Amino acid sequence: MSSLEQEKSKLIALEEPNSIHVEMYRSIRINIEYSAIDKAVKTINITSTLANEAKTTTACNLAVMSANRNKKVLLIDLDLRSPSVHKAFNFKNHIGVTDLLIDFIKNGEKINLYKYLQQFIHPNITNELYILPVGTEVVNPTEILSSKRIVELLNFLKDQFDEIIIDSSPSGIVSDGIITSAFSDGTIYIVESGRTRVEDAQKVISQLKNLNVNILGVILTKVPKKIKDYGYYGYGNNDHSNNRVKIDVE
Ligand SMILES: Nc1ncnc2c1ncn2[C@@H]1O[C@H](COP(=O)(O)OP(=O)(O)O)[C@@H](O)[C@H]1O
Ligand SMILES: [Mg+2]
Repeated sequence: MSSLEQEKSKLIALEEPNSIHVEMYRSIRINIEYSAIDKAVKTINITSTLANEAKTTTACNLAVMSANRNKKVLLIDLDLRSPSVHKAFNFKNHIGVTDLLIDFIKNGEKINLYKYLQQFIHPNITNELYILPVGTEVVNPTEILSSKRIVELLNFLKDQFDEIIIDSSPSGIVSDGIITSAFSDGTIYIVESGRTRVEDAQKVISQLKNLNVNILGVILTKVPKKIKDYGYYGYGNNDHSNNRVKIDVE
C-alpha cells in the first residue's frame, strides 16, 4: 500500500459509512452531544499521551461524522510539531493556521478567513466540512498556543462554525496538547491499547483535570483482535477494525 493510500484509509467514516467501526464514531458523537447538554461544547480537542496513538485518525473521522450532523464544521490541525491532518484529506499544507494567526493579529476580524480554509467535498458528507492545516512551520509552537491571540482567534472561529474539532499534540511529551485542551470546551483522550502505560495516561489526565478540562471521554485504540468482544466488534479487516471505544461521561 502506498503512503497516500494509507493516509486515505484514515477516513473510514467516508469509505465505509455503514460499517460497525463507524458506529463507534457515531456513538462517540452521541456521547458528546449528551455530555454537552448542560454546557455548550463547540470546540473539541483530541489529545493523547504519545505520538501515533490514532489522534489524527480519530479527529478526522469525528469531523466527517460531525459534518453530517452539524451544518458547518471546522477541523483544525494544532499539532504544530507534526502536522498531518492535510494528508488524511489529500490537501496541501502550504497555508494554514499559523498564517491565519499572523493575519488575524494584524487585521483582526476583517481577514478573509476562507483564504486559509480548504473545503472537503464528498458525496457522503451532507454539510460543510472545512480543514485548516498547520501551514507555515513555526519555531515556537508552545508559545503560540499559550498566547491570548490564539484564544481570540478560536473565539472568532467559534462564531463562524457549529463545531470545531482540534487535532493536537501528544500531551505526555510536550505541553501543547494540554494547552489546547485548556482552551477547548471539551477534550477526548486517546489511549493506545497495549502501548500507553496506564500511569502515564493517568498522570496527564490528572493534569488536565487540575486545569478544569472537560474530559468528554477516553477512546481505546488499536485493541488487538484476540481481546475484542466478537459479539459487537466482530468483523471488518481494515486497519481501523480494532479500534474500540469506551466513553465515560461523568
Ligand atoms: N485502529 C488502528 N489499527 C492500526 N493502526 C491504526 C489504527 N488507527 C490508526 N492507525 C495507524 O496508526 C498510525 C498513527 O495514527 P495517527 O492517527 O496519525 O496517530 P497520532 O495522530 O496519534 O500520531 C497511522 O499510521 C494510522 O494509520
Ligand atoms: Mg497526529
